[in-house]
Amino acid sequence: MDSKISIDPEVSRSWTLPASVYIDPGVLERERKEIFSRTWQIVGRRDQVSRPGDFFTAELMGEPLLIVRDQAGELRGFFNVCRHRAGPPAVGCGSRKVFRCGYHGWTYGLDGRLLNAPEFEGVEDFRASEFGLVPVRAEEWGAWVFVNLDKNAEPLIPSLRELPQQTERYKLDLLKLHSRRDYVMDCNWKVYIDNYLEGYHLPSVHPSLNRELDYGKYETETYERHSRQSSPIRGPENEATVERRYKQSAGDMAAEYFWMFPNWMLNCYPDNVSLNIILPLSAEKTLAIFEWYFPESVLKTDAPETTIKFSDEIQLEDGHICEIVHRNLKSSSYTRGRFSVKQERCVHHFHRLYAESSLNRA
Ligand code: FES
Ligand SMILES: [Fe+2]
Repeated sequence: MDSKISIDPEVSRSWTLPASVYIDPGVLERERKEIFSRTWQIVGRRDQVSRPGDFFTAELMGEPLLIVRDQAGELRGFFNVCRHRAGPPAVGCGSRKVFRCGYHGWTYGLDGRLLNAPEFEGVEDFRASEFGLVPVRAEEWGAWVFVNLDKNAEPLIPSLRELPQQTERYKLDLLKLHSRRDYVMDCNWKVYIDNYLEGYHLPSVHPSLNRELDYGKYETETYERHSRQSSPIRGPENEATVERRYKQSAGDMAAEYFWMFPNWMLNCYPDNVSLNIILPLSAEKTLAIFEWYFPESVLKTDAPETTIKFSDEIQLEDGHICEIVHRNLKSSSYTRGRFSVKQERCVHHFHRLYAESSLNRA
């Protein structure tokens, strides 16, 4: 990006991000380095590494990673790259006492120390202690394991600010994964985030969801690096003739949508929570990972299937509008837009965080 982006701190005066940052492939390279490699990113679940020796491998911004629970019960993260000639110390997931590289058999402890380099006698100035796996910051919260590629990043939990307390009632650490679906969309990742961050499109894009939520009472709150949108779920006293998903719900129930800068969200409903992770595949292609979590007691009932079907319908509606918006952002007629003060505070907040991110400081 040649010129710095400026977003007015007052939503009523502000313009949106310029269309060029959604379509310029050069921008994505910088976002990967300056945004995605400097924020806590979800790479897996805690239940994949619950006992000592449990491990899984993952990839974040092209970096191969290894996450393991060590003998002492501590969670550790490493680059999954052998210090010999860059072979793979671990593959897939499972449980191990040591990691043995799949290329020439160097073995590493669960703490990353190099334990054995076969047939390495006579190598000058070689000290095994200097050839441990390179560590990466890995921490855990709720049901998830996070990695931050920035060595100097603030620890995960304080970085989440009010979020742990705001989601306490959903008991996130007790929820169980039911299923995952991946959606690939032809749009920039920010188009999807923008769309997520407002309920303004609800009446036009999601007629069925709009029947569940009380659009007139839709609320938004922004915090330092996250935001919360909420809407009461209509109570039975408003029972319409249409079939509704939360027919039985009491009037005080709410749907809460939490977004954390830059790219993950928790959608909290009375009986389930879904996680979304939004990852850029290219400037014009985005992967949205959806995972649905339920309390153990609900897992074996019919409720999950109904929830997922409903959620899938909404996601397809969102994907469809995002693809059209992305195509239109490329039109010579459009440069940038304005925000609804009432409905688009969270989008404006995202654009501000984006503009203030290190992307702009270079
Ligand atoms: S690359 Fe791992 S042992 Fe050679
Ligand atoms: Fe939507």
